[in-house]
This record gives sequence, C-alpha cells and structure tokens, in this order.
Amino acid sequence: MPTKIIEDQDTLIREIQALRKERNALIIAHNYQRAEIQSLADIIGDSLELSRAAAKTNNPVIVFCGVHFMAESASILSPDKTVLLPEITAGCPMADMVTVEGPRRTDRKEYRDLLGIAFEFADAFTLRDLKSRHPGAPVVCYVNTSAAVKAESDICCTSSNALKVVESLKEDTVIMIPDRNLSAYVAKRTKKKVITWDGFCHVHQRVTVNDINKLRKEHPDSVFIVHPECPPEIQDMADHIASTSGILRLAREIDKKEFIIGTEEGLGYRLKKENPGKEFYFAYEHMVCPNMKRITLRSLRNALRDMQYVIKVSENIRIKAKRALDRMLEI
Ligand code: 13P
Ligand code: SF4
Repeated sequence: MPTKIIEDQDTLIREIQALRKERNALIIAHNYQRAEIQSLADIIGDSLELSRAAAKTNNPVIVFCGVHFMAESASILSPDKTVLLPEITAGCPMADMVTVEGPRRTDRKEYRDLLGIAFEFADAFTLRDLKSRHPGAPVVCYVNTSAAVKAESDICCTSSNALKVVESLKEDTVIMIPDRNLSAYVAKRTKKKVITWDGFCHVHQRVTVNDINKLRKEHPDSVFIVHPECPPEIQDMADHIASTSGILRLAREIDKKEFIIGTEEGLGYRLKKENPGKEFYFAYEHMVCPNMKRITLRSLRNALRDMQYVIKVSENIRIKAKRALDRMLEI
C-alpha cells in the first residue's frame, strides 16, 4: 500500500522560499487568495495592479496565484517570461460566459426593468455577431475574459478603471462584456449608451438586499463598501463602490470602526492586517470564490518545483489581445 506523505506547512514554506530563489521567480497573488499564499507573495493586488506588475517585472518566472485569465494576461504582456498558474483548473466562471462564439443567458428583461436606465442587452448569440450588429461601437472587455475574447475587443478594463475607460472613448455607444453588473455601474454614470453582455459573477451576484438590511441593522454605524460585480440594487445601497484594492484603500482612509464588505472573503486577510481595531463583516456567510481558493501551499510548491502549469497564448491571439490590454494600461 502506498504511504501517504503528509507535508507540514513549515516544510512547504521552506521549500517555496528556496525554490523561488533558485528560479528567480516573482510570486503575484490576487487579493482573494488564501492568507498563507498572500503572506508569501511579492505583490498582492487587484486585477489592474497585477497586470501592471506583470508588465514590468524583470524576473524570468512569474507564478500567478489567481485564476486563469489573470495568468493569461501576464503571459500576453510578458511573452518572454515563463508564467505559471499553480492550479490549471482555477478558472473564472464569469470569464467563461463569453466566448467568441457565444453563449448568452436569458433573464435580461427582468434585469433591465429593475435598472430603469438606458441600458441595452446584447441582442446576439456570439461576440462576432454582436459586433456586426453594432458597427462602429467599440468593445470594452473586462479583464475577466479569455485571451481570444480580448483579441476580439478594442480595449480592456478592470473594476477600478471601467468608467474611465468608457469615458476615454470617442464613440457614443459602447459594447461592454461580460459582466452585466459592472456594465450597469458604468451605464449609470456615463451619458454613453451601454450594450452589455449578460454575464455575472456567481459569488457577487448572490448578495441580497436582505443580507445587507440585516447587517445594517446589526451594525448601524457601519460603512458599506461593495464591489461593482454585485447587482445594481446592492450597489445602490452602498456608501462606496470600488475594486478590491479600492475597498482596501477606503477601509484605511475612512475613520469608522465597522465595515460591511460586499466582496470575496479573501480580502479579509489584508483588511484585518492593515486595520487593527476595525471590524469587517462580509455580505453573506462564506462569500468565497472556490476557484481562487484552489491554490494552496502545496500547489505553489509544486508549481515552482515542477515548473507547472505554463500559460502561453498563441502569438496571433497574443498580439491582438495585447493591443486591448496596452490601450487600457496607457490610460
Ligand atoms: P478586482 O480587479 O477588483 O480585484 O476584481 C477581480 C475579480 O475577479 C473580482 O471578482
Ligand atoms: Fe471570477 Fe467571481 Fe471568482 Fe472573481 S470572484 S474570479 S469574477 S468567479
């Protein structure tokens, strides 16, 4: 019978420290990663900060502790570097909701009525079809998309710069993919007409008005900060709407003791570390992105030891996708 090898945390950390030196690797972690991964990272941040870091590093190896599209973006920006994603199955379900060839969901009418603003759903089954129905409308794609979708888009955006990106365009009508909630956030703040894809993040979509009312009642003096991937009715209840790093900044700057946070629980690691004495309550119990949590100390060690899993984008897609990312980074 094979013996099960149990590796303790200290041994794994020691191995990671030795291997990162040996490989001259940069460890980048998203704000939602497990605490033990964040504590080992050279850089922790939101999608925009991580894209910037990946674009300017000199390390030959980048270990991306996040989800697939993030490692892909790093590889697009740094093709001469080896980009590793420690768990190949760590994807983003929202990113998978739009492919160059489809698909779309169907509960759009109800959603539009709820918003009550000039906001139009993509009347198309594929991204290419959508583009042909709105000639001249630039496609703004959230970084939470595949390289192939980025290659079909004009410019990327993240949750921290989406409005700025849309406002930077000269056209009056823009297509935004794939997050309907981020699109709604932008549509409410711009004069441009926004045509959106019908995607969403299942972690943020699940926040309800009841969840927030309950927490507000329990903590009447709290500040409610929400990620724009939450539904519009939740955004409307918030004191502030921000990206993950935006939430961290606000929590540091606002002179209050209690905060209700509408995003993934992994952000709690830095929120607590950077704000001793402040309390943070997440919108619902176990507000967790399972994909972000796939990466463990063991998979990080394995990634560095076995140089796995290499993320590489074919050159013809990469060149086009890079244009959309570069255009965003220039803003
Ligand atoms: P941020 O860019 O705010 O970190 O968001 C990324 C993400 O995937 C949120 O679910
Ligand atoms: Fe994707 Fe949502 Fe997970 Fe972010 S939290 S990676 S948008 S599934």
